[in-house]
Amino acid sequence: MKGVTLENITKKFGKAHGVADLNIAIQPGEFFTFLGPSGCGKTTTLRMIAGFYFPTEGDIYFDDRNVSTLQPNKREIGMVFQNYALFPHMTVDENIAFGLQVRKLSKATIKEKVDRTRSLVRLEQYGSRKINELSGGQQQRVALARALVIEPDILLLDEPLSNLDAKLREETRVEIKRLQSELGVTTVYVTHDQTEAMAMSDRIMVMENGYVKQIGTPQAIYNRPENRFVASFIGETNLIKTTVRQVTRDEVEVESEEGIRLVGMPANAAASADLRQGSTVYLSIRPEAFGIGPGPNEMLGRVQFVEFTGVSIQYVIDVKGFHFTLMMINDGNELLAIGDMIVVHVPLRNVYFLGE
Ligand SMILES: Nc1ncnc2c1ncn2[C@@H]1O[C@H](COP(=O)(O)OP(=O)(O)OP(=O)(O)O)[C@@H](O)[C@H]1O
Ligand SMILES: [Mg+2]
Repeated sequence: MKGVTLENITKKFGKAHGVADLNIAIQPGEFFTFLGPSGCGKTTTLRMIAGFYFPTEGDIYFDDRNVSTLQPNKREIGMVFQNYALFPHMTVDENIAFGLQVRKLSKATIKEKVDRTRSLVRLEQYGSRKINELSGGQQQRVALARALVIEPDILLLDEPLSNLDAKLREETRVEIKRLQSELGVTTVYVTHDQTEAMAMSDRIMVMENGYVKQIGTPQAIYNRPENRFVASFIGETNLIKTTVRQVTRDEVEVESEEGIRLVGMPANAAASADLRQGSTVYLSIRPEAFGIGPGPNEMLGRVQFVEFTGVSIQYVIDVKGFHFTLMMINDGNELLAIGDMIVVHVPLRNVYFLGE
């Protein structure tokens, strides 16, 4: 188990930056995830940790050792590439053994390690199968075994589940998490899927355009986003532009451009929110925060859209021209129909303030 520290890391490609001013301290044994839209710099950062790219500026440490310009094969990392990069004409065992042969271990040691790792990823029966005779999920596990067999200090995974169907993705996600906590290996995981990131990670780094937007636990990132980008990228939210009308010790009252008046609590705000009278703030209200019927922050809306997913029902309602998205747990009752009028409310603690 090793910690990974990135200090003031910038990677430039010509004049453009891939990533800029990255500062990260990943703890030994931590499951740390890079999350962000396509092109935000996730792979670039992972490749610098692996040693396939060297930083333009800044330093990378594994524990106290500066590895910024060390070659990949000297770093004791296991990496799973987005496309797996397996050898298709070789068998499962030959693929898993590859990294050990490069390290010139004895035949007996290699056999023992390959056997152990193959059963770790639950492919006991598949040792002599060719890669092109395996399903996508099985190939994914071979890639994982090949990365794990060398007993790496650090495991790097670049969107390892992106080629799998939804069910297999969920199963494999549980499997990776199980392996990671069993082995206690420091893991850096890359994904653009926010549910996957939240379900698996100790901490998440949200990136946009090569910059870090927030680092925190899944709960912190979901419940206390630091900016509008994080609020809307993680989960769904209703973002409303408002002006602060009145502030007391316990309450902040705001009004949207549509004339919707809402009340929240001053403590429930990002550091970026300026809660003085007359200033502009954004409200983030999660779809699941709404209740049906009268209550605090009561609003009357007209149903615009209904989507039934089994567990829940999503409604879009129009309140004075603003469209709110609501999510209700399916209680077996009849659904509302498009055009119905409905009274909803939002508890004060579910109103979250963000800066411009
Ligand atoms: N070798 C390269 N040469 C030039 N530009 C590059 C190179 N590699 C990446 N970039 C650019 O750097 C930025 C970050 O790319 P990166 O591959 O890290 O994104 P990503 O977050 O992994 O995206 P995705 O989710 O699509 O894989 C992009 O604008 C990309 O075009
Ligand atoms: Mg990538």
